[in-house]
This record gives sequence, C-alpha cells and structure tokens, in this order.
Amino acid sequence: MDLDKVANDITKVLVTPEQIRSRVTELSADLDKHYAGKDVLLVGVLKGAVMFMADISRAMQIAVQMDWMAVSSYGHGTQSSGVVRILKDLDADVLGRHVLIVEDIIDSGLTLSWLVANLKARGAASVEIVALLRKPDAAKVQVDVAWVGFEIPSEFVVGYGLDYAENYRSLPGVAVLDPKIYS
Ligand code: PRP
Repeated sequence: MDLDKVANDITKVLVTPEQIRSRVTELSADLDKHYAGKDVLLVGVLKGAVMFMADISRAMQIAVQMDWMAVSSYGHGTQSSGVVRILKDLDADVLGRHVLIVEDIIDSGLTLSWLVANLKARGAASVEIVALLRKPDAAKVQVDVAWVGFEIPSEFVVGYGLDYAENYRSLPGVAVLDPKIYS
C-alpha cells in the first residue's frame, strides 16, 4: 500500500522508499565486505524486521542463511522492561557461526541487549546487529550496533514492518503516526 493512501493517518514521511533502497544498497555492500568468506546466519526478529530482512538479504551478494526469532518484552504500557520471553526460537544452532541480527528499530535497546547476550551464550563466533532505524533513547542502554540505517527522532513511527495495533506494516516507507490515531 502506498504512503499516500494513509495521508490522513500520518503527520510526515520520515524515510521514503527510495531512501530505504539506497541505504540498503550501501549497508549490504558493507556487510558483504565484512562477512566475506564467513559462515553467516541472518537472524530476523519478528515481526517488524520482515521487510528489512527481505531487502537486505537479497541485496547482499555473499551466501547467507536466514532464521527467525519472535520475542516478547514484558513492560508497563508502551515501555519495554528488558525482561524478554522467547515466543519462537531459532531452528538453527548458532555454535561457532557468525550471527547478524536484523532489526527494524532500536528504541530503548533492551530487547537487543538481551538478544545479543542470549546468542553469545549459545556459543556464536560473533554477534552483530544491523538495524534500519535507531531512536536516541537507545543510547541509554549499552548495545553496540555495528550498522544503522537511519537515526530518527523519538516519535511513534509506522511502516516498512513497523506497526500500530498490527496496522501499517505493509507501507513501503517509514512515517510518523498522527497522535489522533492512538490517543
Ligand atoms: C519492536 C522492534 C524491536 C523492539 C525494540 O518490536 O521490532 O524488536 O520493539 O524495542 P526496544 O529497543 O525498546 O527493546 P515489537 O515488540 O513492537 O514487536 P513487532 O516487531 O512484532 O511489532
């Protein structure tokens, strides 16, 4: 669904589909160089990372495998607490493999810092993160993100995998949701 179809629900487009395409091309070239000759497992975090995973994996020219995790962060209201529960675990064994976590957004950073520690504890040879979006709040938690697509302000964003009540995930770009939709 094109962004103009939801013009009444959003206040502005933060990242256009063209900007995403161009950044995905840059990131994938960096990733190809970094992981050349290595056994790489891309780990997508459901559901928000689906679009980014699909695009980054196809743009990369080295051979990779893909797997998925679903996690749920217990929190108060919209705030994540850092207590994470695995809803769907990996099918793959990460022992000795180079794991690249593919995420749509880092907000508080709590989900990712937990996930990195969890995958390292399973014996991965390395665990890195590529995230399409990062909000400034992420700086509050120690999480090293090797590759970030775009730094964005702390606003409620939807599109390109990101939802509000499961809506808007299929939009091709990232937009700020009008507060009238959730207030
Ligand atoms: C979002 C996003 C990250 C997490 C980031 O997932 O995809 O996994 O929140 O938040 P944090 O940095 O504050 O921990 P969400 O729980 O909304 O699930 P979804 O991807 O299925 O929409």
